[in-house]
Amino acid sequence: MTYNFDEVINRYGTGSIKFSPEFRNKPSDVLPMWVADMDFKAPPCVLEELHRRVEHGIFGYSEAGEEYFDTLKQWFQTRHNWTVEQNSLTLTFGIVNAVYLAVRALTSEGDGVIIQQPVYYPFEGAVSDNRRKVLNNGLIYENGRYAMDLNDFEEKAKLAKVFILCNPHNPVGRVWTRDELKAVGDICVRYGVTVISDEIHQDFIFAPSKHTVFADISPEFADITITCTAPSKTFNLAGLTLSNIFIDNKEIRRKFRREYEAAGLSQPSLLGFAACQAAYSGGVEWLEQLVKYLAGNLEFTRDFLVNNVPSVKLIEPEGTYLLWFDFRELNVPNLDDFILNKAKLWLDGGTMFGASGKGFQRLNMACPRSTLEDALLRIKNVC
Ligand SMILES: Cc1ncc(COP(=O)(O)O)c(C=O)c1O
Repeated sequence: MTYNFDEVINRYGTGSIKFSPEFRNKPSDVLPMWVADMDFKAPPCVLEELHRRVEHGIFGYSEAGEEYFDTLKQWFQTRHNWTVEQNSLTLTFGIVNAVYLAVRALTSEGDGVIIQQPVYYPFEGAVSDNRRKVLNNGLIYENGRYAMDLNDFEEKAKLAKVFILCNPHNPVGRVWTRDELKAVGDICVRYGVTVISDEIHQDFIFAPSKHTVFADISPEFADITITCTAPSKTFNLAGLTLSNIFIDNKEIRRKFRREYEAAGLSQPSLLGFAACQAAYSGGVEWLEQLVKYLAGNLEFTRDFLVNNVPSVKLIEPEGTYLLWFDFRELNVPNLDDFILNKAKLWLDGGTMFGASGKGFQRLNMACPRSTLEDALLRIKNVC
């Protein structure tokens, strides 16, 4: 079966935050390319399962059973060569939810938590909203590529209880190599730092890069890691709020579940886990075609910029569907205003991801090619 990712679907008036500029005080005539969900329908196998559930008509308190876990196990085994154990799994209402719970479970007020800016902004929120201390191990940007600063990481690790790893990394698009992860993980083992590995983008990898599950590198790493996974990015199910969190270490798992209960959380979203099971059992072909389509969008963007706006640099992503653009050559005093009000484009401004994002913008390319072309033309027209 061939899926049509070129179809433009109207999302206005559906409550989508991406397509509701009034929710965020943005002008009504901007093209939204910001928050990380996709403008594609979920795969048919998911829609069929949701129709079946709606037809049944009862949405009472529910829990995922054995069959659900078997589907997850099969998925991670075949796609990521990673073996998961049923007792290590906790379902949460999203990965941001899990990261916040994990920070609260593993640290006390004032404790240090390492993040690597520019990075997905709720990481900083999870630390500062809970009155913990942000230890920013800023990424190094050299020759158009980002890397980890391991010397600085080691200094920060001496002061930290937890490290929130973005693997693959949003917004810079790095798919960390096994060697890079091993190096940073060895430091965490040495200094007793627990790792929250957010792997939500693990299914969007461009060849020849390969995703490495951090916890799978060694039993020592598995023992210090909370691995956050979800079908939400992969199959465009964010509004169904369901994530699968794996924790091998019994004591870390106990603390995490205790925090989960203390927050008053209990049964997961029924439609969320029903959709997850359907997607992981029947969505592989759709996903493979989607990743090819996104690779086409990436190529289209790369060519467009080189040929039309060479002053705007694309940081070549190895994974994710988020593009990180370097606008610094334009020397615009207020870049966010320039993009929003001159280009009429709604992107995520670089400084949302930390001060080192100044001069950068993040664009979500998970949309029909015609929409992407519209966005790039808007950039061209103002540059
Ligand atoms: C790295 C990362 N983690 C988590 C999320 C959001 O996860 P959730 O919707 O499950 O809270 C996103 C969404 O953009 C993300 O990029």
